[in-house]
Amino acid sequence: MSSILALDDEQDMLALLGRIISEKSSHELTTLGDPQQLSQLLEQKSFDVVLTDLKMPGKNGMQVLEEVKQKSPRTAVIIMTAYGTIESALQATRKGAFDYITKPFRKERILHVVEQALNWQRLQQENIQLRQKLEETTTLPTLVGSTRLMQSLCDQIQKVAKTSATVLITGDSGTGKELVARALHAQSLRSSRQFIPIDCSTIPESIIESELFGHVKGSFTGAIRNKKGLVEEANHGTLFLDEIADLNPSMQVKLLRLLQEGEYKVVGSNAISKADIRFIAATNQNLAEKIKNGEFREDLFYRLNVINIRLPSLVERKDDIPLLVSHFLDKYNSLYGKNIKKVSAELMQDMLGRDWPGNVRELEHTIERGVIMASGESLELSDISAGGTPPKSAAHEFDDSELFSMPFKEAKDMLIDRFHSEYLSRVLSRNAGNVSKAARESGLKRQYLHRLMRETSLESKSFKRNDPE
Ligand SMILES: Nc1ncnc2c1ncn2[C@@H]1O[C@H](COP(=O)(O)OP(=O)(O)OP(=O)(O)O)[C@@H](O)[C@H]1O
Ligand SMILES: [Mg+2]
Repeated sequence: MSSILALDDEQDMLALLGRIISEKSSHELTTLGDPQQLSQLLEQKSFDVVLTDLKMPGKNGMQVLEEVKQKSPRTAVIIMTAYGTIESALQATRKGAFDYITKPFRKERILHVVEQALNWQRLQQENIQLRQKLEETTTLPTLVGSTRLMQSLCDQIQKVAKTSATVLITGDSGTGKELVARALHAQSLRSSRQFIPIDCSTIPESIIESELFGHVKGSFTGAIRNKKGLVEEANHGTLFLDEIADLNPSMQVKLLRLLQEGEYKVVGSNAISKADIRFIAATNQNLAEKIKNGEFREDLFYRLNVINIRLPSLVERKDDIPLLVSHFLDKYNSLYGKNIKKVSAELMQDMLGRDWPGNVRELEHTIERGVIMASGESLELSDISAGGTPPKSAAHEFDDSELFSMPFKEAKDMLIDRFHSEYLSRVLSRNAGNVSKAARESGLKRQYLHRLMRETSLESKSFKRNDPE
């Protein structure tokens, strides 16, 4: 049932509207002849649509519009006016009235405009609900953990998120630094804007400046058109500078200026551009050491380290392991269409006793591997190959046909992971676990190779040759 209010100082007009609107049994009409009583009425009842005359003694239609919108913004206000005052009716629509109707009007016109207003409202309502649903399902990255360390981390995130302060996240590989950065953005006032991650260890030095700041056409060979930089894309949002310790010295200077002044220059342009950005940086390296060796600017460090969030390694919060295991079990059960209900006591014991050098990421990979391998309803120690074995053994067993029935993005990530793991295993094996040599041979930056190794839980020591050659 839609509720409609009609306001007019002429009783005849109210009677006419009453006849027209009551034709529709789904509409409930309230009439008011004295606009002075509006405030009182709005206290008691809310309306979907308000039809109001423009010229009335005591209070005009414009004032009615303002008052109604203030009390309930989603009520649609329709202005009724005589020909002579169309100009003010137009003005009312600019101020938020839904539409206007000129007197004398036809019955169809009234009904049509009222229907339109109700439709508009329904759409608005649906939109709000959809957006809420979307937010619930997509934006909140879940940080699993119930230990004191994790609780205080969540408290810290909540407090810091609402500010625009720069945050430096430190912690070992796989402890969840990127996840925390995303959580900070999702809980911030900028959450409807972009979260732009950039990995300073993977982008070659020669192009990182243009990636970040953009370039103008012709500024270097190959710059065939203007290119927007990530900084511009992150404007009003969050820029996540991952692996910040690997940023080269000349970019460190430019980043410092961006942090201090909010200014930068597009490559090939002399004009100064401005940006309003929330910065979050992360590293698993010891920045103090890098500063001492002259590899990282101290002034930049202080600018980044306004707030420091340190992520505990997994061994520091072993009590979270069972919770994490069940979280990843759910995740991979649904991804691979399996129904593994529990983890054997033996396996849990084994997992609680491990050191987890690759932290949560390694635990996650271990469970994923197990879920792929397991055939029963319980995950057994034997489903998980002995510590540190690369996931490639499991990947080989993986049936391709499953890949093509998975959601596109997951299938693609899976295939890329498999490729990374296979490629790295081979190149590392050819070079007996020597990362520098392997990097040279594959044309990758050493840091990037290290990173890929962490992500695929490969350790160089498993490729060392013990046999004398
Ligand atoms: N508390 C947690 N709850 C649930 N999942 C987590 C948690 N911490 C980490 N993860 C998961 O572990 C994996 C690694 O996390 P993330 O990429 O954030 O680590 P990182 O600290 O950035 O590692 P690196 O230094 O190697 O880049 C991700 O898949 C992430 O979702
Ligand atoms: Mg990371």
